[in-house]
Amino acid sequence: MGVIGVGYVGLVTAVCIAHLGHRVVCLDVDEAKVAALEAGRVPIYEPGLEDLMAGAAARLSFTTSYDELCRQARILFIAVDTPPSPSGDADLSRVQAVVREVRRHDGERLLVMKSTVPVGTGDRITAELEAAGHPGLGYVSNPEFLREGAAVDDVLHPDRIVIGAYREADGDEVAALFADIETTVVRTTVPTAEMIKYASNAFLATKISFINEIANVCEAVGADVRAVADGMGLDHRIGPHFLQAGIGYGGSCFPKDVQALKQLAGNSGYHFQLLNAVIEVNHLQKRRVVGKLKDRLGALRGRHVALLGLTFKPHTDDMREAASIVLAARLRDEGARVSAYDPMVPPGSRDDLFPGIEIARTALEALDGADAAVLVTEWPELVGLDWAVVRDRMRGRHVIDGRNVLDAARVAAAGLVVTGIGTADQPAGEPVASDDVR
Ligand code: UDX
Repeated sequence: MGVIGVGYVGLVTAVCIAHLGHRVVCLDVDEAKVAALEAGRVPIYEPGLEDLMAGAAARLSFTTSYDELCRQARILFIAVDTPPSPSGDADLSRVQAVVREVRRHDGERLLVMKSTVPVGTGDRITAELEAAGHPGLGYVSNPEFLREGAAVDDVLHPDRIVIGAYREADGDEVAALFADIETTVVRTTVPTAEMIKYASNAFLATKISFINEIANVCEAVGADVRAVADGMGLDHRIGPHFLQAGIGYGGSCFPKDVQALKQLAGNSGYHFQLLNAVIEVNHLQKRRVVGKLKDRLGALRGRHVALLGLTFKPHTDDMREAASIVLAARLRDEGARVSAYDPMVPPGSRDDLFPGIEIARTALEALDGADAAVLVTEWPELVGLDWAVVRDRMRGRHVIDGRNVLDAARVAAAGLVVTGIGTADQPAGEPVASDDVR
């Protein structure tokens, strides 16, 4: 089989399928990436991927040539990116380019869509193929639900596999590839499979924006959102996951997919009110941190703020739609001096995203002389900092816990004032006042 587009989803899918025992040819238009992969180098940071790739190396090959791909592979997974276009719709030009290339080659093949594409894309591609007189190409929708940082596990141990097909036999063929994976397989139509992907991501984003709004109300009424989330999550209809209040969601999927679903609904004549709010809440949530800093420090001009963590979440080097980008830019605009540390962002490596921000080699270097610190990304190394040492390095005492993950008692005992999201401030050196449902 073949995988077209060896980005995040494509590479993890290819390696996992090779691990399951299939021969996989991977195609990418980026020659440097293909050369690196041929040499056994993994271009992304994803726990477990390098080992799995080394173990399956004999069944994996990489190419930039569609001739070679089509000579060797019958089932072709499409995993190219579908970034937002200026109109807010998903940009399908890369998907269309792939279909055009494959169409130039004779023979029976099965296109399996892994990329997140708007509902109706399968219908459109199939109609175009029929109009172009290429009936030998089948089409299956097989959306991906992997999370960065847990991608290998998510592919090999998924909650479900969704397969939408026009012909039963095409769906069977894709299901057979995953036969060794024990999970529920949802067999459905192509548009329904496409919608399951969007609806899942939009619902998870809604859960996050919901708990973030609850957190903001908690601050106003003196409740603690962490205990509220625990209490809510025990109801099996709600569940405990994705109720972690913080500075908002980022990454390559949620922002793009929520926007695309809203747009898709709009294009079909339906105004998806709820998603407008989900997007706006997420946007404002990042800015609330700036408000919290101003409450504590007054005007930020000339103040020194240290950002701890820059990636959109821990265990990834992905910076796409990371809250840190907006936060750093806002703080700079307010006239603050901003330093930052992230284990995945060496000094000088991302000046494009963080102009005017001092990226340090260590967390303590970033914290040196800071008036306040903001925990932006919950890397274990940052959560586990020695806070007494941090206090000695900082000039001020304020720590904003943007992810509600710090052990407030420990940090406060070190003499720092911890401000969470949707929680009461933890004054320095005082015992923790918290509701605990456990
Ligand atoms: C997500 C989906 O989980 C995955 O199924 C889909 O295929 C791709 O998009 P990913 O982008 O890797 O995966 O990240 P995820 O772990 O879901 O987190 C997304 C964002 O939400 C992160 O910025 C995270 O910090 C934030 N988040 C998550 C919260 O703010 N609170 C939560 O409770 C959970």
